[in-house]
Amino acid sequence: MKFFLDTANLKQIQEVQNLGILDGVTTNPSLIAKEGIKGDVNIKQRYIDICNLVGGDVSAEVIATDFEEIIKEGEELAKLHHQIIVKVPMIKEGIKAINYFSKNGIKTNCTLIFSAGQALLAAKAGATYVSPFIGRLDDIGESGIDLITQICNIFKLHSFDTQVLAASIRSKEHIIQCAEAGADVVTTPLAPILELLKHDLTDKGLTKFLEDHAKNNS
Ligand code: G3P
Repeated sequence: MKFFLDTANLKQIQEVQNLGILDGVTTNPSLIAKEGIKGDVNIKQRYIDICNLVGGDVSAEVIATDFEEIIKEGEELAKLHHQIIVKVPMIKEGIKAINYFSKNGIKTNCTLIFSAGQALLAAKAGATYVSPFIGRLDDIGESGIDLITQICNIFKLHSFDTQVLAASIRSKEHIIQCAEAGADVVTTPLAPILELLKHDLTDKGLTKFLEDHAKNNS
């Protein structure tokens, strides 16, 4: 399972890159706004900066919602860097655009997926990735992980190439459950990744090892 970081923050991207476990980055307009990045030029520059930090795919989202505009914006984004994946919302015009991009060699990430039917349509249209938002489903009392399992089963059964990119990750448990469910990728904020490092017994065990080492050498 690939690990993507869900952020536009360069410091956080560098931190995970330094661990040697980063496979890519996803962004969205809310994450760009969180970094205080304003204006087309600055936003595009941030996408390029992110691409230059990581080796893998970097999702950059279109703002347009009608077909012609999505195509124009997506083609501009794709030209920025070969690592750019054009992120397109799950709407009717978006599905048309994903189909167009797929036929023209532009990779896509269909975002805001909340049902297996939406994932199936995006895969049929030729999306490179689908992004089911599991935390937001949990928020409304549904199981995000059940959706990941369902989509993974459907894609496997019908041999779709589209990758399941689990998004809206809120905890280390989400990451582990996505791995169990067979997600191809998780995109997560920094905190759940750092949480994966921790276990009380690791800390206690290390303290004891270091104490015993100190005794042996005193
Ligand atoms: O990748 C989508 C993600 O950023 C949404 O996460 O926590 O806003 O539901 P969240």
